[in-house]
Amino acid sequence: MFRLIFCVFATAAVYNVNAYEVDMYEFLMPNVWPHSDELYLCTPIRISPRNRFNIVGFQPNASMHTAHHMLLYGCSEPGSNDSVWNCGEMQRNVIDEIYSTASPCRSGSQIVYAWARDAPSLHLPKDVGFLVGQGSPIKYLVLQVHYMHRFPKGHTDNSGVFLKYTKAHMPRQAGVILLGTSGIIMPNMVEHMETACTMTEDKTIHPFAFRTHTHSLGTLVSGYVVHRNKDGDEWTLLGKKNPQLPQMFYPTENRDPIKKNDVLAARCTMNNSHEYVVKIGATNQDEMCNFYLMYWVENDTPLKQKYCFTAGPPNYYWSEAHENFNWIPDLEASTP
Ligand SMILES: *[C@@H]1O[C@H](CO)[C@@H](O)[C@H](O)[C@H]1NC(C)=O
Ligand SMILES: *[C@@H]1O[C@H](CO)[C@@H](O)[C@H](O)[C@H]1NC(C)=O
Ligand SMILES: *[C@@H]1O[C@H](CO)[C@@H](O)[C@H](O)[C@H]1NC(C)=O
Repeated sequence: MFRLIFCVFATAAVYNVNAYEVDMYEFLMPNVWPHSDELYLCTPIRISPRNRFNIVGFQPNASMHTAHHMLLYGCSEPGSNDSVWNCGEMQRNVIDEIYSTASPCRSGSQIVYAWARDAPSLHLPKDVGFLVGQGSPIKYLVLQVHYMHRFPKGHTDNSGVFLKYTKAHMPRQAGVILLGTSGIIMPNMVEHMETACTMTEDKTIHPFAFRTHTHSLGTLVSGYVVHRNKDGDEWTLLGKKNPQLPQMFYPTENRDPIKKNDVLAARCTMNNSHEYVVKIGATNQDEMCNFYLMYWVENDTPLKQKYCFTAGPPNYYWSEAHENFNWIPDLEASTP
């Protein structure tokens, strides 16, 4: 039961400075009832498959008193065919008597936008858009809202995001690659969860925003690009953030193009002060280590590679990686 098809909704059109028409689509929760604390709800829109749309801006329409965070997923197939479902990252095993339970996407999952408390609108750089619909693996958008507290009976919510989009051709397509790890963190240990991937596609990507994500044990997440010079590796910081701060997209420290044979790398510094082992996993007893990099490509399609994951500790560290890295910024990568 899909509510809407993108193309039939042309709301007030405006022309921006680049003189192409920009429409706004109000992508909102359909008056849902957050019936329990810490609830994650998802709602989809199907993109008309015969049209190419470029999303060029995201304007949050939510109150921080209600929504703890919102994520917008691009999917090839949505997690459910319902108009609303329970899609908690940490709540896969709960029985929800009101909504069905499924992940945000059934296939082709990628994050295109994230909002957390107080975050302002995100405008993509000039001439940059997320292509959805025809010619893109993104056939559906799924809005996920994390509600902190249950609502009284009879009170509903329609938090969401206004999507600014255009049918005009954008010379620069946006994409997101997610760096992360699996692994375990031993009791009473500060652990480094690390990942690195060599870029194998013959594309040039231009990084412009990053987002970090852990659960409660993360103290810092940092991301780098490694240029492999003959006289040694050059580690350039893309961004680092305390993941206990609002987990939204922030501008990268560096916007230099990243090319084939460069390496993307990320580290999560985790402090496990518990007396037990904590593993990477989906429940709130578990941890996560994620660094999202948002980039654009010019007259090209985004990377086919959407993920860069390693086994994490105790089986993977930068210092033991097959790339034989040198000049690893060991101190800097864990220092705010
Ligand atoms: C979202 O936008 C609608 C108008 O489209 C407005 O009525 C509603 O109050 C907004 N909600 C929040 C939480 O800002
Ligand atoms: C949604 O419906 C389609 C068509 O009936 C079906 O192929 C698909 O498996 C369904 N998806 C889910 C997640 O149930
Ligand atoms: C780890 O967490 C514990 C408990 O919160 C704290 O006392 C300790 O200083 C932290 N260690 C580091 C290295 O951050």
